[in-house]
Order: sequence, then structure tokens, then C-alpha cells
Amino acid sequence: MDPSLKKIANRIDELRTIITEHDRLYYTLDKPIISDYEYDKLFAELEDLESKRPELITNDSPTQRVGGMALDAFEKAAHRLPMLSLQNSYSVEDIRAFDLRVKKILGTKENIEYFCEPKFDGLAVELIYENGRLTRALTRGDGVTGEDVTANVRTIRSLPLTLHTKSPPSLLEVRGEVLIFKKAFADLNDQQQDAGYEPFANPRNAAAGSIRQLDSKITATRPLHMICYAVGAYEGIRLETQDKLAEILSKFSLPTTPLKKICYSVDGAIEFYNDILAKRHALPFDIDGIVIKVNSLRLQDELGSVARSPRWASAAKFPPEEAETKIENIVVQVGRTGALTPVAIMTPVRVGGVTVSHATLHNQNEIDRKDIRVGDTVIVSRAGDVIPEIVRVVFTKRPDKSKAFKILTKCPECNSAVEQIEGEIILRCPNPLCPAILRESLKHFVSRRAMNIDKVGDKIVDQLVASGLVKSFSDFYSLSPEALLSLERQGKKSVSNIIESINQSRAPMLSQFIYALGLRFVGEQTAKFLSKHFGSLKAILSANEETLSQVEGIGEKIAPSIVKAFKDKNLRKEIDQLLAKGVKIQNPEKNNGARPLAGLSIVITGTLPVSRNVAEELIENSGGKKSSSVSKKTNYILAGEDAGSKLEKARKLGIPILDWSAFCALIK
Ligand code: IVH
Repeated sequence: MDPSLKKIANRIDELRTIITEHDRLYYTLDKPIISDYEYDKLFAELEDLESKRPELITNDSPTQRVGGMALDAFEKAAHRLPMLSLQNSYSVEDIRAFDLRVKKILGTKENIEYFCEPKFDGLAVELIYENGRLTRALTRGDGVTGEDVTANVRTIRSLPLTLHTKSPPSLLEVRGEVLIFKKAFADLNDQQQDAGYEPFANPRNAAAGSIRQLDSKITATRPLHMICYAVGAYEGIRLETQDKLAEILSKFSLPTTPLKKICYSVDGAIEFYNDILAKRHALPFDIDGIVIKVNSLRLQDELGSVARSPRWASAAKFPPEEAETKIENIVVQVGRTGALTPVAIMTPVRVGGVTVSHATLHNQNEIDRKDIRVGDTVIVSRAGDVIPEIVRVVFTKRPDKSKAFKILTKCPECNSAVEQIEGEIILRCPNPLCPAILRESLKHFVSRRAMNIDKVGDKIVDQLVASGLVKSFSDFYSLSPEALLSLERQGKKSVSNIIESINQSRAPMLSQFIYALGLRFVGEQTAKFLSKHFGSLKAILSANEETLSQVEGIGEKIAPSIVKAFKDKNLRKEIDQLLAKGVKIQNPEKNNGARPLAGLSIVITGTLPVSRNVAEELIENSGGKKSSSVSKKTNYILAGEDAGSKLEKARKLGIPILDWSAFCALIK
């Protein structure tokens, strides 16, 4: 190898090792030691070297995680060892019966040592590591044959592409559950809905849908996680117990659960069951029970399996969280994209620790499938701890004169004939002037993660639309105090607050602005990707399908939809109007070059001429870190009007104080 190439190859190797270690610290151990900015810099350097020397790219480079070409279908592949299912126990008696069976087969009266951990509610996947490298990932499938989802599984950042060990086993098949944490699920569903998609019913469905997604670029945008709990075939390694196995997996940098316990008798296992049942809601992910496994792998072998389940393990399921209530009414709501959603209004009832009174019925097909009617007594569950769902109707309690519910073929708001797009189940109101669509689009426009006009809440939008004062996005920017005063329940003070918050929204980040337009399929994440990729509104407006599809998260479906949206004369006119009325878009800083606030910690206080969001994003984009309390470590304080105690404290500590214009000059 020529010396200059050798030097590049060495640096590439070094960067891969460093980045992989930071991935491990961040995703697996949750203990990052460098900032995102520093990480991005290392990553960019590696990408740059690899683009100059593509012959040096290897499959296990951290740059190669993010999706390639979309597939037409998944390939099928056989598991070396079948992926079994578990026998279920539903009660303490069932758990005791399982224990007795184990003892009987082993011919012992002694206590058995059990390894217990939660039963994760996700999608079972098998990872195959050959000589330490992740070479393949399969879904469980029918247990004998699974689908090859390698490209998708590689996008899960908490999974190592190479095992963290100097002497890897020649073969290690690791089994575990792919899932999405509750918090990430709530954000994902917000994004789905913002982008005009149907929300996922629960984290399990979202995880399964993401893993079985043919376009791995889309999978890469999903917050997937995996927890490993078992092995399939293996060579070149000795395993003796479940707990040692968990320890070894963890040493290899494979994520396992800390919620595990060795129980020295069945009583211990029952105690663990009750303990986890009590903690269930506080856990960051969904579980549906615990799994009790004989700890010794030698005894597991001896016990073997019957049919499709091992005799050495049992899934002790938790009782489902359901409750009975009554449907008082079914209303049809019109969303921002015109989509009609039937919603059941129920007598409030407590399920899994919260009171629920509304449940989405999704669409007509769902209503028909479950035969849900007004007046019905129904069983509701809280799917994924988040969205209440109607599980079934209690038909024996159905009133005599009930009628099947049909969504009307007219928009409940503007009476237009509704449409059904081919291939979609959802009915839509096609009228762009429908007051419901206008209202919902405006609510989205002013919302926190969009233009963030925080003093204009849903009620005020309703009033502004009803009074005809606002008919488009740009109308917000020509509202006069007199006009606002004419609204009910508005006084001088609240009107001046509204005007001020409108003025503060005049300098959105590019991504916020794009997101605020509410284009179909463009949620907050996609808007950020667009902003980062193109850098200016002008560049986004003139992008074509080809350039758009190079953007992370944008596939064949979204690109043409964005092009079409921006061809719309009304939208273009509206954008021009917004700019003409003084909306000044802040373009993102490019990530290269020295950043003016790199490594500095900044505290914001008082009222700035822009919103907090914008100021914070500007700080982040300039490499700085926003902090909420003033200390000796604070590098600057950015003070607006009416700054109070924080400013005083900063003065006492002698921390440099920036006003808005000094701050702007600094980050230029
Ligand atoms: S051990 C026989 N441990 O439950 C296979 N499985 O209903 C041994 N599951 O297919 C699996 N959490 O997908 C095991 N902590 C855990 C689990 C777990 C969830 C799933 C797994 C299995 C299914 C059986």
C-alpha cells in the first residue's frame, strides 16, 4: 500500500474504533462523554475520508448503518435452531405448577434456581455474529424460517456492528426483542400525525412496522431499541447459566436488561412477578409479564422442549389492563389534512392508572370490524400505555334499538362530498377552504414546534377563524390590536401579549418554518433533515424529486409529494406573503468550520426579540450549550428585557453579559 493511502487507512481505522466506542457509551451505556458536536465532527471526518477512498469502506463502518436501497420484498432464511415460543402462566398457581413440572422431569425435590426478567412486548429478532461481526438479522417468522431484515436492524444504534471483544466467538446467534420506548413512541406518533399519517396503535406495532419496512432509510428515522435475552446457535464460547449469558452479552456491548434477578426458589420468582407487576407503569417500555427460566443451561438441555415451547421456561403474563364503559356518542373530527376520524366519546373510566373518555375508532373499516355502536358497552384497554383502544363490544349488553354507525359521505363541517383516495381507507374532505381544515392548519402553524406563537392558543384560533380575521397563515402578521380587541374576552393586556408573541415568531428557524407549512408527510424530523440538507428556503423550493430523495428520511413517496406541494400557486403566494410581512427565516449554520460558541455554556434570561426556541437553536447551531442556571461555569449570559435574578447573579460572578445585538454579532 502506498504510504499516503496507508495513512488514510490507519486514520479510518482509528476513527471507526473511536466512533464505535462513543456509540457504545451513548446508546448502550447511556453515558456519553463528548458533545453531539464533537461526535458529528468525528463522523464527518470519517465520511469525508471514505468518500475520497471508497475502496476502504467496509460493512462494519459506523457510516454504513443508515439505509441503502429500498427492497421489493424481504428474503427468507432458515434459523439454525428454531425460535421457540413460551408456555404462558396466568396466575401464581400456574407458576407453581410450572415449577412442579420442572422438578418432576428433573426428578428432584430440591429448589430450582430460576433466572427472571421482564417479558418485553416487542418483536423477536435474531442477530447473527460471525467472528464478531454482525452478518445477518432475521425476524422470528414462523419460528423455523424468518425474514432477512439485516439492513433495518443495522440502523439500531444501540446494537454493535462488531462485538466489543478482542477474541470474538466464531458464531454467536443472539436473540432479543426490538422495541420502542414509551417516551420515544409518543414523540414518534406526534411526528406521524403532524406529517398526516395515521398514528401507530402502540409501541409494539410501531416497532414491528419499522423492522418490516422495506425502505431502511425510513427505519433509520425510527427510535428503535433492542434488548437481548437469549442465544440460538453458538460456537467458540462456553455458556453455563442464563445470568452468565446476560453478563457476557453485556460485555460484548449487546444491550440487556438491568431488571433481572436470580431467584433461588419458585417463591422468589413469584416475588419478582409481583414486584415487576407493581413497577410496570413506571418502566420506560411496555412489558406484558415476566419470563421465568431455569438458570442452568445444562438443566435446560435436560428438560428439552415439547411441541414449540421449551420445558425450562414460562411466560408469566400480567392480567390485561382493561375496563368496561359505555359509548355515549361517536363524533367525526376533520383534521388538518382533511382526514375524517371517528372518535368515541365514552363515560369516563379508569384504566391502568389514568381516566379515559375518548378513543379513536380510526376509520369505517375498524368500526365495522368491531361492530361498534352508540350506546354499546365496550371493553377499553390502554394500548401501549398511551392511546386508549376499544378492544371489543359486550354484545350481551347491547340495547335493543341500536343502529350500525356509518360515517356520513358529507364533511361534518362544510358539507362537501367526502373523497376516498385510491388505496387508502381514510375518507377526506377535499375542500381546501373547509373551515375545519383551515382551523387545524392554523393551529398547527402557531404550535410550539412550528412558528411557536404561544399566546395564540386553540381557542383564539377558533375565534379568529370564526370572525374572519384570519383566513391564511400570513393574516396573523397583519392583525391589528384593534381587530384583536374586537374578539370576545380580550383585553388590552392579553392583546398586547398576543401581538408580542406574533412579533417574536417572525424569526423562525428554517426547519420550524417548513414544518409550520404543514405539508403532507413533512413532520418535524423531515423538516429538520430538509433544512440541514438544503440550508435555505430557496434551495428547498427549487429541489426536484431526485435531489429530495437524497435527503435522510425521504423516499419515493415523499419526494414527489413535496415537489407537488411547492408547485401549488396558493402555497407559493402564501410563502411570499409571509416573507413580505416580515417573517425572516434563520438558516441553519453549516457544521463545518470553527463554531463561535463551541464548548461554551450560555444562560438566557429576560424577554428577547425572538422566541426562546429560536435563541436556543441559534446557540446550539453555533456550537454552544444552553444551560438553565447561572454558575461559575457559565461563559455568557444572554439577557433580554426585564431580566431578573439570573442577571444579578451573573453580575456578581462577573460573567460577561450579552444583549441581543451583541449575541448576534458574536455568532455571525
Ligand atoms: S426467552 C423460548 N426472554 O416472548 C424462547 N423471551 O412468547 C426463549 N420474549 O418468542 C425466549 N421477552 O419473543 C425470552 N425476557 C425474555 C422475553 C422473551 C419477550 C418473547 C420472545 C418469545 C416470546 C414467547
